[in-house]
Amino acid sequence: MRAMTRADVDAVLAIEQTVQRFPWTRGNFADALDSGYLCRVDEAENGGIRGYAILMPAADEAELLNIGVGAAQQRKGLGRAILAEMLDEARARQLRRVFLEVRPSNAAAIALYRSAGFGETGVRRDYYRNEDGSEDAVTMACELSPLSHCGRGAGGDG
Ligand SMILES: CC(C)(COP(=O)(O)OP(=O)(O)OC[C@H]1O[C@@H](n2cnc3c(N)ncnc32)[C@H](O)[C@@H]1OP(=O)(O)O)[C@@H](O)C(=O)NCCC(=O)NCCS
Repeated sequence: MRAMTRADVDAVLAIEQTVQRFPWTRGNFADALDSGYLCRVDEAENGGIRGYAILMPAADEAELLNIGVGAAQQRKGLGRAILAEMLDEARARQLRRVFLEVRPSNAAAIALYRSAGFGETGVRRDYYRNEDGSEDAVTMACELSPLSHCGRGAGGDG
């Protein structure tokens, strides 16, 4: 994993537009870079971008704003590895907690977060727009004490 740069945005956007039902725009990625959020990409040996994640630190917490893995690379453990690295970076910055919102319809993401040790903390009503109007968000969080197993496979069997 390495820091995302402006030069990566085309490749990241290409994945985003393929895998997300409501993709971020180029401007969203540019704003995240300009704002100094933790923007990371996973690069294959041939230099192609396989996945990415964006974490927004705020005080002693951080919000995971986005995570995506290219369609051809999914279900190979990459999403879990990217998430674990983001949690390690948050730990290294002494952050206490990482939280996120996710669509209840996004079973893959919810399973990934649960397997990384996130627990559900609540529901935000009508948080997202969708084809029928709006959709609630499930909120999830992971407490990051130095000894916690968040992102280290505590929720799974690994
Ligand atoms: C969510 C996402 C990042 C997961 O990436 P991935 O590389 O495929 O995930 P992994 O291979 O590391 O899977 C880790 C665990 O997540 C769960 N999971 C991943 N994809 C799943 C799917 N399609 N269905 C059910 N569970 C799934 C499983 O528990 C899996 O563990 P297992 O393979 O041992 O069963 C990927 O599906 C993606 O990019 N989705 C579109 C973008 C998105 O929705 N992002 C989240 C909201 S911003």
